[in-house]
Order: sequence, then structure tokens, then C-alpha cells
Amino acid sequence: MSITIKSAEDIEGMRLACRLASEVLDYITPHIKPGITTKEIDRLGAECMAQQGTISATVGYQPPGYPPYPASLCTSVNHVVCHGIPNDKPLKKGDIVNVDVTVITKDGWYGDNSRMFLIGECSIAAKRLSALTFEAMWHGIVQVKPGAHLGDIGHAIQKFAEGQGFSIVREFCGHGIGKKFHEEPQVLHYGRPGTLEELVPGMVFTIEPMINAGRREVKDFGNDGWTIVTKDHSLSAQWEHTVLVTETGYEVMTLSAGSPPLPAFVTATAT
Ligand code: MF3
Ligand code: CO
Ligand code: CO
Repeated sequence: MSITIKSAEDIEGMRLACRLASEVLDYITPHIKPGITTKEIDRLGAECMAQQGTISATVGYQPPGYPPYPASLCTSVNHVVCHGIPNDKPLKKGDIVNVDVTVITKDGWYGDNSRMFLIGECSIAAKRLSALTFEAMWHGIVQVKPGAHLGDIGHAIQKFAEGQGFSIVREFCGHGIGKKFHEEPQVLHYGRPGTLEELVPGMVFTIEPMINAGRREVKDFGNDGWTIVTKDHSLSAQWEHTVLVTETGYEVMTLSAGSPPLPAFVTATAT
């Protein structure tokens, strides 16, 4: 298999899927406060997808060696790195949570994105990790243009995040996306400039760095086959967008009314 190049019509399909995926995050946002459980967030996400006429890409998702994923979205709290399964434990003041939503439209296109949420007043360290992980994602996004290489994206993210004293999770990466959830290429969040695949207009992939406040090593939480946590129990954050390579640069596809403002060093969501 190789990297699919999306046609103009494919791109229209992806724009819709990605906007809807972002709107699911908008829909749940006002509800994410101390006392809500991650299961309630999951229910709200499912309710929004039903209203949209989309379906969750994660319910029943079962890559080789995994049990079927049991929920409509992922909720990764504090030292959970990714793939946290919604449960009945209420979120409390000071928690940070990543909510990761992937929808499939009627036409079969996938849109994948995630945001961090701060629950009530959080520590300076937690706020800093979340904000700088958002910036790290954008440092990767602005590398995207024809002729650039995947290694440029990974390098920009790694240089920025490690420069802040954080570490990059190596075991999980961004991915091509289209009529499948995970397509080629893998988009590493570390690397060397000028290496790996050259970017071509029409490629669509996610950029979704997982960044730890402490050491980079992760482990299976153990009992559910999905949840990944930091080995040293340090906080972890993640943000995710789906990005199109355009003729002149990039287009961030997973945007909607509730998307957070761009970091100061970014001038446009599309170039
Ligand atoms: N949305 C995740 C990603 O960004 C994948 C979640 S798979 C699940 O690639 F099964 F854990 F939901
Ligand atoms: Co993804
Ligand atoms: Co995702």
C-alpha cells in the first residue's frame, strides 16, 4: 500500500468529516467541568454524532491484537497518554483531559481530532504542558507544504517540545486518513529535517503529538487492552488536527467555531 492522494471531490468529503469531528468537540466543551464523568462526555459525543448523522470510528474498532474499543471517543486523564476508555469516575478540579473524536460521514470519510480540557483551576505545570503541546502541534503543522518532508514535521515538534524540557512519546504517531481510519504514512513527532516521505498536494494526515512532562516512556495500563499511561506517572498532553497538503502549504481541516485561537506565530489556518 502507499499514500493516497485525495482528488478535489475527496477533499470536499474530508472537509465535511473533519468539520463535523471538530463540532463534536465544540458540543461537549460547555459540559466539561468538575463532577462530569468521562462516560457522560462519551454519551454527549454519541448524542452529537447521532444528530449529525455521523458514526463514531472508535466503537468496535479492533486493530490486530486489540480487543474491540468500547466507546464513541477516547478520554485520557492526567498521566493517561492516549486511548483512555470513558468510565464512571467524576473529573475533579485540577485534572487535565484529552478528548479524541473520530467520526465517519455517510460517504465514508473519516475526520480525526482531539483537544485538551483543563478541569477548573489547574496547576501552572498542567496549564503549561497543555498550552505548549498545542503550540508543538502547530510548529509541526506550519512545516506542511509540497516539497517538505515528514521528517521536517517531526523535527519541528521535537525541537520545540524538548526545548521546553518535555519529552515526546515515540510509540504512537500521526497517520494518513481518508476512507480508512489509519492509512499510510506514519507521521512521527520526532525526527530529522529532510528525511522520510516528501509531501505532495492532496495528501491528508493527522498531526497529534503526545508530550510528557517527565520521561518519554509509556506502558500499558494493563487491564483493558487499550489505556496507555506514562511509566513515571508524569502528566501527558495531546492535541490533534487532520491536515491537507495544498499547492502552496497546508489546510487544517478539523476546524470549527469552537476551535481555539491560533498561536501567535501562526498566521493562517490555510495557506
Ligand atoms: N483517534 C485516535 C487517533 O488519533 C485513535 C483512537 S483508536 C481507539 O488515531 F480505538 F482507541 F479509539
Ligand atoms: Co489520529
Ligand atoms: Co484521534
